[in-house]
Amino acid sequence: MSENLAPKLEKYLPPPVLALAKIAGREASELGQELYLVGGVVRDLFLGRANFDYDLVVEGNAISLARRLAKDSQAKLTTHSHFGTAKLKYPGFSLDLATARSEIYSRPGALPTVKPGSLKDDLIRRDFSINAMALCLTPQHFGGLIDLYHGKDDLERGLIRILHPNSFIDDATRILRALRYEHRLGFKLETETERLLRRDVAMLDTISGDRLRHELELILKEDQPEKMLRRADELEVLSKIHPAIKGNGWLGKMFAKARQVDKRTSPLSLYLCLLIYNLTEKENEELISRLNFPKRLAQAMRHTLQLKAHLHNLANPKLKPSDIYQSLHGYAAPAIQANALASESPIVSQNLRLYLTKLRYVKPLLNGEDLKRMGVSEGPRLGEILNALHRAKLNGEVRTRKDEERFVRS
Ligand code: CTP
Repeated sequence: MSENLAPKLEKYLPPPVLALAKIAGREASELGQELYLVGGVVRDLFLGRANFDYDLVVEGNAISLARRLAKDSQAKLTTHSHFGTAKLKYPGFSLDLATARSEIYSRPGALPTVKPGSLKDDLIRRDFSINAMALCLTPQHFGGLIDLYHGKDDLERGLIRILHPNSFIDDATRILRALRYEHRLGFKLETETERLLRRDVAMLDTISGDRLRHELELILKEDQPEKMLRRADELEVLSKIHPAIKGNGWLGKMFAKARQVDKRTSPLSLYLCLLIYNLTEKENEELISRLNFPKRLAQAMRHTLQLKAHLHNLANPKLKPSDIYQSLHGYAAPAIQANALASESPIVSQNLRLYLTKLRYVKPLLNGEDLKRMGVSEGPRLGEILNALHRAKLNGEVRTRKDEERFVRS
């Protein structure tokens, strides 16, 4: 163990987590096992960044240790015996325990075959040196740092470094992870890592659509994802996902605008609609099927291009609100928002914004039941009257309930 970080650990972990980490360490020790805190949380402890993912590795058996811990507390336990992992849910946080394991990749991109191993085996299978450090939690060495791959030096130098030359071949999702950490931490790819990343970029083809989409979504959840997409473009990573997607300055401008109109931390569906904005429908379909987008997102992406093809209908400043409603009703909101941001016509954008902020929420006060009470009999005529009433409401011709009743009678 290179150094002891007990005081740092005691300050960094929230008190209930620290208390549990100590109990878990003692219990592990009684079982003759070693317990470590590993991965992102150790990296973030050094960087002074918050991280609430508590990943623990047990040299021994994670499930039996987790069972013991669950017995003495209120924690909710879930186990996966096949993977030798367990999750303990406490109020406000959870601990993930995994049995230390070694991994063998039967072929590039496949999920690895795992078998129990030592902490060393468990660390070498990881993505980057900065994510491959461990802190001992058992009492004899509490806070002892295990840093077999010089992760701490790389943290100090701001470098993302893989642990062995086949790392990106084994698991090409690491290519996207590397870009995410580079950006999030303000780090650089270490020279040899960058060379190997460029060499192995084609290995992205070995990754399933779901895994690739998950990584893309993680990128889109970061702050200013356009910067990562630009870097991914430069490294020819984006073109490997689909040759038509670009991480250029236009996209950067659009993403920045997207954040202004959609204040959620990550307007994921809007970002995706902008990412495909300059694709043809055929290219869009290829991307949807390559990344296996779920229905709702795929629909928003398709609507984006369908609406884009019909924007000329909305380039008229004299359109009535009911005409705007008629043209846009049924399109997914992110598709409309993407067009509002990307359209070069101020009139089009204004009409799209009017729909999003106002028109789509306008509804008459009277409904079908009210109309029946007023003597309108059931049938197509009732539907027509309701539609006419909705149009009148959109156009501001009726405002109050009385106005609406008068309108229906007329
Ligand atoms: N890991 C890996 N290779 C991957 C995914 C994960 O080696 N393709 C390892 C890394 O050691 C990582 C840990 O598993 O630290 C946990 O993965 P994850 O939760 O994705 O990363 P964190 O670093 O914990 O979290 P984040 O990226 O959000 O900071």
